[in-house]
Amino acid sequence: MTAVPSPPTAPKASADPATPAEGPQPDPAVPADLRPLAKGTLGRRLVLRVAVLVALVAVGLSAVVALAAYNIQIAQVDTRLDQAAFRATRDGPGTDGPGPGGQEIGTIIAVQTSSAIYAQILVDRTTNDRVQYLTLTDAAAQQLAALELESGTKSTIQIADYGVYRVTVKEGSNSRVIVALPLNQLASAMTSLVLFEALLAGVVIVVAVFATRSVVVSSLAPLNRLAGTATTVSNLPLESGEVEGIVRVPLSDTDPVSEVGRVGLAFNHMLDNVEGALAARHASEVKLRQFVADASHELRNPLAAIRGYAELTRRERAEVSEPMAHALTRIESESDRMSRLVEDLLLLARLDSGPALEVKRTDLTEIVLNATSDARAAGPDHKWSLALPDEPVWAMADRYRMHQVLANLLANARTHTPPGTEVQTAVTVEDGMAVLTVTDNGPGIAADLQPAVFERFTRADTSRVRRQGGSSTGLGLAIVAAVVTAHSGTAGVESVPGRTVFTVRIPAAPGD
Ligand SMILES: Nc1ncnc2c1ncn2[C@@H]1O[C@H](COP(=O)(O)OP(=O)(O)OP(=O)(O)O)[C@@H](O)[C@H]1O
Ligand SMILES: [Mg+2]
Repeated sequence: MTAVPSPPTAPKASADPATPAEGPQPDPAVPADLRPLAKGTLGRRLVLRVAVLVALVAVGLSAVVALAAYNIQIAQVDTRLDQAAFRATRDGPGTDGPGPGGQEIGTIIAVQTSSAIYAQILVDRTTNDRVQYLTLTDAAAQQLAALELESGTKSTIQIADYGVYRVTVKEGSNSRVIVALPLNQLASAMTSLVLFEALLAGVVIVVAVFATRSVVVSSLAPLNRLAGTATTVSNLPLESGEVEGIVRVPLSDTDPVSEVGRVGLAFNHMLDNVEGALAARHASEVKLRQFVADASHELRNPLAAIRGYAELTRRERAEVSEPMAHALTRIESESDRMSRLVEDLLLLARLDSGPALEVKRTDLTEIVLNATSDARAAGPDHKWSLALPDEPVWAMADRYRMHQVLANLLANARTHTPPGTEVQTAVTVEDGMAVLTVTDNGPGIAADLQPAVFERFTRADTSRVRRQGGSSTGLGLAIVAAVVTAHSGTAGVESVPGRTVFTVRIPAAPGD
């Protein structure tokens, strides 16, 4: 259905009486998708990325620190191991120091010959407050016997039954000495270090997330306000031309030092530009309308005079030559047509500059009755019928203009359809709207003409009236649309060959 919409309602922003003097402010209800950390927002992505980055840096740093600490510790153990190996090969067990041979508690010393291995561990016997060497278990001794290590080098190994050890080998002429120091202290120190680092990394990540969050939220707040302003502006009915006080980005968000401020500033400049262009366009439209209204008004008097003089010549027409009489008749009919055209243009110009209506509580059924009776008189060749409810249908309407709407629709049904066409006029109330329909079973309106049928000067080239030399201007439906729109209503048409329905809806008024 082709329809003429009612005028857009005034924007909330400019209608709000609480609006401060410097102009309407952006709608504070920023949509959920504009919240700084909503799903998919730049803010959320920034916070997540910083969190991941901080986590990676924390893990990397922890690993480097742990590795460095481990290497330092191992270097110390290796020094002690060298000393232990030196003592073991120089003195043999039990000469000086805290343990036999000055060795540390836990030191393993093994002497391996081509046929056997003799392995011992220095232990602390707390029961009798003495230290002493104990023979290693067979499994451990066998493992040391099988150890493949170059003389003087060191390695970390797991010795069965005893744990993790740092081990070195000294090759003698017909034997080799294997010395090992326990690493259990180093392992527990490393475990504590790694646990501490993990805790520290967790704290750093949490602090980083919260700090980034607050920085991101405060940095993006102006951007969100800007988006809110853009949303408010995009909801304004700019197409109506008459737009005042377009919302601006607050001055605090237009500091050109910051990136967002620059966007805000550019946005405000753009809005200044748009507002200026709209104002200029509106002013020129107003001027043009005024010109059409003035011109139409000024044309009325000379036209009335021409019509009057043409009428005066009627009586004399029998006395003048036939071509002269024909010319006088044409002058009369064309001046009639031009008067109607001028009246229509004047009405449209007035309706364009604001609803020039005398609105009263009006019974539409009465208008339908009168207009149909006029149409019946004007088109006796058509079949006119009515479908009216028993009760009156009330609407706040300009009685004279609504009569004109119906008269235009009925005139179309009469002039653009062949004799014998059935035309039905109906009025009802639907969902609080008074609905007027004019239905005919004529040839219909061409599909390509339908979308523009309510526009000014739209006429079908094949129009019957024009073929018959009648006075069709193409303003009838434009007036229908303008009057109905001024009543905050809609007008539409549905047409196929054999059925054309014009529908007019205006708000109904409550009954008695
Ligand atoms: N009921 C109808 N059946 C067929 N065609 C129609 C009907 N009503 C309107 N039209 C088509 O729509 C065109 C526009 O109608 P509109 O009333 O605006 O102008 P008009 O009737 O040609 O001229 P005016 O009403 O100004 O004298 C018409 O020229 C005609 O082609
Ligand atoms: Mg018409």
